[in-house]
Amino acid sequence: MKVLITGGAGFIGSHVVRLFVNKYPNYTIHNLDNLTYAGNLANLTDIEKKPNYKFVKGDIVDAAFISELFTKENYNAVVHLAAESHVDRSITNPLEFVMTNVIGTVNLLNAAKELYKKDATSFKKFYHVSTDEVYGALGDTGMFTEETSYDPHSPYSASKASSDHFVRAYHDTYGLPIVISNCSNNYGPNHFPEKLIPLCINNIKNNKPLPIYGKGENVRDWLFVEDHATAIDTIFHKAKLGSTYNIGGHNEWTNIDVIRLLCRIMDKKLNRETGANEKLITFVKDRAGHDLRYAIDASKLKNDLGWVPSVTFEQGLDLTVDWYLHNEEWLSNVTSGNYTHYYEEQYAKR
Ligand code: NAD
Ligand code: TYD
Repeated sequence: MKVLITGGAGFIGSHVVRLFVNKYPNYTIHNLDNLTYAGNLANLTDIEKKPNYKFVKGDIVDAAFISELFTKENYNAVVHLAAESHVDRSITNPLEFVMTNVIGTVNLLNAAKELYKKDATSFKKFYHVSTDEVYGALGDTGMFTEETSYDPHSPYSASKASSDHFVRAYHDTYGLPIVISNCSNNYGPNHFPEKLIPLCINNIKNNKPLPIYGKGENVRDWLFVEDHATAIDTIFHKAKLGSTYNIGGHNEWTNIDVIRLLCRIMDKKLNRETGANEKLITFVKDRAGHDLRYAIDASKLKNDLGWVPSVTFEQGLDLTVDWYLHNEEWLSNVTSGNYTHYYEEQYAKR
């Protein structure tokens, strides 16, 4: 099986690539990534020399390039993660999100459709990785199920919702074998430090303010990134074609409670006085259109396919903090501003 994973140099994609390369030595894994600010080949140094792995630099928005690549490589399956992924960036630059998340996805669908048309037994599936944010926001009660209507509020979630609709449309119109999963907020190693948890880990380390939007009352349902990767593996191999699965950890936290827990963990790890890090918490202007609460009902995934998360939030956060404290170079490279060029040059030399 030759599998194309898109966005494999990013946060979640790198964990999926690593899992597939190590767990399936008889698969050939191609990682297609354009190395935007969020893509970083340093996330994959441990597997880059494996014989079943190849990095392909390229832009999913470039239709001609994508079409040529698919014709040449004749992939058997696609796991699509490449995206613009940060809500705050989507508020400043929505068009970028339309280009990558919508047009890029449709380019991949078109190329996959051609392979499927040519040989329906050879092209097995197009797996689209999406987010729970397409469902909109919850009040104090209830959970998102696979039947919840789409109601996106940010340009990011609107672009992901649009891409999900296109994926389903290609299944219904052209018979393309597809699977979609919608996952809750991830955290863990290799997370770009513009997102809440890695940003605060970095700021605590450097004794800088921890910016909490509004009153910190917004609720997110956090899942350790390696658990997301195992869920993707399970769904990729076991889900019925045409189906959708929600992925989540039944792990709801208000933002302020997440940051308080992080402060306590890091008080100990940095040998600071108990309560020292909490003094860094700063309430700042709220995000426009800030969704109040996300919560995922992942019972379909548990009941149908037997997947459950492997770590508690406290365990996962502990592992995550340790990773950031032991990967000083990774962190300083991605916060230095010129890391993308640095890693591209390094890669070109190999
Ligand atoms: P990320 O921003 O860390 O990584 C995205 C990757 O896509 C980067 O490596 C980037 O270089 C690549 N990319 C961007 N534009 C590209 C283009 N035009 N062509 C080729 N590659 C391109 O994102 P992430 O957090 O790892 O998210 C991965 C996927 O999972 C996304 O589709 C996202 O919507 C979804 N998701 C994320 C979360 C989360 O909490 N981070 C939760 C649920 C779903
Ligand atoms: P984020 O990590 O950006 O993920 P998403 O918006 O996709 O859920 O944000 C997680 C939560 O943390 C969200 O409610 C916004 C909030 N937040 C802050 O309070 N301060 C910050 O600096 C950031 C980046 C996010």
